[in-house]
Amino acid sequence: MTTMAMPEAVAVARDPMVPEPYVLRRVAKETHDTFTLTLAPDDGATVHAFQPGQFSMLWAFGVGEIPISISGDPERTDELTYTIRAVGATTRSLVSRKPGADIGVRGPFGTGWPVDVARGRDVVIVAGGIGLAPLRPVIYHVLQNRADYGRLILLYGARSPAEILYAKELRAWARKPNTQVVTTVDYGGLSWRGHVGVVTTIFKYARLDPKHATAMLCGPEIMMRFATRELESAGVPRNDTYVSMERNMQCGVGLCGHCQWGPHFVCKDGPVFRYDRIHGLVNRHEL
Ligand SMILES: Cc1cc2nc3c(=O)[nH]c(=O)nc-3n(C[C@H](O)[C@H](O)[C@H](O)COP(=O)(O)OP(=O)(O)OC[C@H]3O[C@@H](n4cnc5c(N)ncnc54)[C@H](O)[C@@H]3O)c2cc1C
Ligand code: FES
Repeated sequence: MTTMAMPEAVAVARDPMVPEPYVLRRVAKETHDTFTLTLAPDDGATVHAFQPGQFSMLWAFGVGEIPISISGDPERTDELTYTIRAVGATTRSLVSRKPGADIGVRGPFGTGWPVDVARGRDVVIVAGGIGLAPLRPVIYHVLQNRADYGRLILLYGARSPAEILYAKELRAWARKPNTQVVTTVDYGGLSWRGHVGVVTTIFKYARLDPKHATAMLCGPEIMMRFATRELESAGVPRNDTYVSMERNMQCGVGLCGHCQWGPHFVCKDGPVFRYDRIHGLVNRHEL
């Protein structure tokens, strides 16, 4: 009698184009149009590890699929967090879903912030508006590995006091040792006692050693153009400066060409780029 050998378990490679089923656990309102969503795999499995700065493609079934940066703690293995500003059909649909709703998740995709390269150095974070979301995992990482980094300096600009993201956390981070948080708003109103002006106007308060600093920037492109110039004049070299770029995306994995930006595909060569490598493109307004 012949005996049949049991087939060995074969690891099945994940298809990056197939969304995995997640369940919405919590929705927290950040501002009038921005919400933080926490999702978990619907089978209770652990999430795929991600690097600060990476994004997922989120499927609002029946509406559309969009790229959204992961804004939560990279150490968490049970859930993924996203902060979403409702600007159109898909974002509006995602933020209006209730806990228990199904959402499809592909990824994580793209390049991350250089948290390893920055080890032993000051970390300067410059964020505008929703641009703070993809940088929040860097802040968690630095605070959890405090002895590995020098000063943590966060320069954050929002349109108005009501549009400041993570206000409670900003106050908590500001109280941490070796950490500086400076926030400014474009329009303060009568009760605002803080800084008023675009984010570059608060650079003068940053206590940093430009030769030993790694800068990470995310926000509207106009802000990044001016902020990178300001950093250069403060003595931070272009090759120690990193920016996160946004382009329309479809596949998220370098197949469709939707996100092409000069010679780069933002979904796989970015979204985080070292500034000296894309400096020419950032300053060409028509791209
Ligand atoms: C790598 C990457 C990461 C991203 N991370 C985040 C994130 O963490 N949080 C987040 O909220 N968004 C993020 N975005 C932007 C997000 O993908 C878009 O806001 C979303 O695709 C809009 O889809 P929609 O169907 O809701 O709106 P659409 O119907 O596509 O657009 C509706 C209107 O909003 C305008 N619009 C589109 N995108 C933006 C935008 N970014 N800002 C202002 N107006 C816009 C359009 O021009 C249009 O007028 C990211 C984008 C990329 C490429
Ligand atoms: S989104 Fe398809 S190539 Fe980048």
